[in-house]
Amino acid sequence: MNITLLGAGAIGALWAIKLTQQQHKVQLWTRHSETQTTLHFNELTTPITTNSYSFSCNSPDDLAACELLIITVKAFQVTTALTPLLPYLNTDCVVVIMHNGIGTQSQIKQLLPHNPIIYATTSQAAFKPTPTTIQHTGLGQTSLGAINQQAQPLSYIAALFNAALAPTQWQANIYQPLWQKLAINCAINPLTAIHQCTNGDLALPCYQSQLDSICLEVAQVMTAEGFLTTQQQLRHQVDNVIKATANNYSSMNRDIFHHRLTEIDYINGYLVQQAQRHNIDTPINYQLWQAIKHMESLEHA
Ligand code: PAF
Repeated sequence: MNITLLGAGAIGALWAIKLTQQQHKVQLWTRHSETQTTLHFNELTTPITTNSYSFSCNSPDDLAACELLIITVKAFQVTTALTPLLPYLNTDCVVVIMHNGIGTQSQIKQLLPHNPIIYATTSQAAFKPTPTTIQHTGLGQTSLGAINQQAQPLSYIAALFNAALAPTQWQANIYQPLWQKLAINCAINPLTAIHQCTNGDLALPCYQSQLDSICLEVAQVMTAEGFLTTQQQLRHQVDNVIKATANNYSSMNRDIFHHRLTEIDYINGYLVQQAQRHNIDTPINYQLWQAIKHMESLEHA
């Protein structure tokens, strides 16, 4: 397929490379005006094997011929990053959006009233030790699913992602895995950002009661939203991710460390807003949301 990837951070670049390995024609859409770039990819092998991949960039002609647009920018960047591409985009082009958190769906449906729209969430792990090097650090489940009528029949897109990087599954209701991932992000991201610690540090005794309270609040809101779960189930999933990614710094930890804006409004902020609709009290998630907003405001007055 002719694919354009918007947002070649670590996860975006991972998918660009894995799809290129499957012989798809992938171009990158970047913030700069370069027409070509080379990325160096460290495979998830021991010893590490490195291969280099050249990508064409920012070609309006390629964008007009694009059959699949994958957007992997941060939640708060999705609409501003997508808007300049709209004049070129074919209405048949399938759009896949992958970011932490929930809350961009209605804006995207408005911006793209005709295109098939798919949302995705992944537990694949990667980071960029340099701006042009991608290190694949962990395998994990990826889920894709339609959020509009036009995308309902497109389960083959999940098969295409699965061939590039397994396991990937098509979901009848993508909001279920999006909420599951939201629960993990509500627990891990703000705590690791506030305390500037690794994910693994959250296994220390001092964080246990806060993690319990976060999971209880999220479980109440998820249940009210129709996604039956319990505090114990969410705690178990959070603990698994803490163990599996013990040496990693979460994305929000890195955003705060590098003085960047975070996705907090789409994570704990989204949770609190949904809780209010159901008259559920979520004081711990509210505190974490406000603590990160305060840290952001010191850098972005
Ligand atoms: O945002 C992140 O860093 C990741 O979604 C997760 C799962 C918390 C692991 O670090």
